[in-house]
Amino acid sequence: MIMDATGRNKRVEPENRLLTVENLTVNFSTDDGKFKAVDNLSFHIERGENVGLVGESGCGKSVTALSLPRLIPSPPGEIESGEIWFDGKDVMAMTSNQLQGIRGRAISMIFQEPLSALSPLHRIGRQMVETVLLHRDMPPREAWQFAEQWLGKVGIPDAADRMYAYPFQLSGGMQQRIMIAMALMLAPSLIIADEPTTALDVTTQAQVFELIKAMKQAHTSMLLITHDMGVVWEMCERILVMYASQIVESGSREEIFSNPQHPYTIGLLNAIPKLTGRRTQLKDIPGQVPSPYDYPAGCHFEKRCAFSLPKCITQSPPFYECGNGHRAACFLLADSGE
Ligand SMILES: Nc1ncnc2c1ncn2[C@@H]1O[C@H](COP(=O)(O)OP(=O)(O)OP(=O)(O)O)[C@@H](O)[C@H]1O
Ligand code: SF4
Ligand SMILES: [Mg+2]
Repeated sequence: MIMDATGRNKRVEPENRLLTVENLTVNFSTDDGKFKAVDNLSFHIERGENVGLVGESGCGKSVTALSLPRLIPSPPGEIESGEIWFDGKDVMAMTSNQLQGIRGRAISMIFQEPLSALSPLHRIGRQMVETVLLHRDMPPREAWQFAEQWLGKVGIPDAADRMYAYPFQLSGGMQQRIMIAMALMLAPSLIIADEPTTALDVTTQAQVFELIKAMKQAHTSMLLITHDMGVVWEMCERILVMYASQIVESGSREEIFSNPQHPYTIGLLNAIPKLTGRRTQLKDIPGQVPSPYDYPAGCHFEKRCAFSLPKCITQSPPFYECGNGHRAACFLLADSGE
């Protein structure tokens, strides 16, 4: 690690590396006590790579995503420890001005609910132009034209008129297209898409994913959070599987789908609806996710695991390498790994 001219930390990352997260732990303090929403997470994203983050509700996917540009609401949240390196720069050491500089410009986010990101009080055009002017040195008139062109690019009909519309005057699908335009128009290095289509009907969902794929530049990376394993297969080259605040398995999409190693990942893949004859069956993983206030001392999946060993109750399984960059945290892999 070296210091740059401002005394901030810099370090030399592997050539194609955009993001490195090491041992990230995020706590929340509520009236019921303190808990770890994200526990000792480590992962990376290469330039141009699409990485899927999957796991059951409440496992910490959104908290992970919000941590990257340091958007965890504090209080009640707090990044307790860990390192986040974006484009070779130490995000944890950035000032609020430096963070403002990367948010929306280098790291952009697409949320599940477009209305949570769009102001209901201002016209679409004004909101888009403000975003452009914040990050680009451009005369306002040019910024307006630039924004209008992007509305056209994401398939908004009558873009010139829509610039004067309020968000509530547009359908959910249209609002999400505008979010995508706002997220992509500044050519970010990283797009974080957190359940970007959950609120939409199936046909619009497919259109929105096609749009993200088509509009995203080749060098742009994406962290895609979704419950839909079919979407992960379509959109992502690599997959991170989270369970109860921890990453339990990671690997290429082919490895995860055809050679899953962690009992939770196997359960998750078995839970995908399968077309059996004319019926679609959805199998749940038996048992319940533990409360974050009461995560087990050992493996977090222990209470639901059909293969549990005595040491799983008291010890946290380390990661074992499974080949081809595939790794999983489960004691069953001890013989093949260590
Ligand atoms: N602002 C907050 N205050 C208190 N607890 C929070 C807050 N945000 C998240 N949490 C808690 O942190 C844990 C992880 O939440 P997170 O939103 O990351 O889950 P998730 O994996 O994104 O779930 P989902 O799939 O339902 O979106 C949960 O227990 C959640 O209740
Ligand atoms: S470490 Fe133990 S409890 Fe956890 S998934 Fe593996 S076998 Fe199951
Ligand atoms: Mg979420």
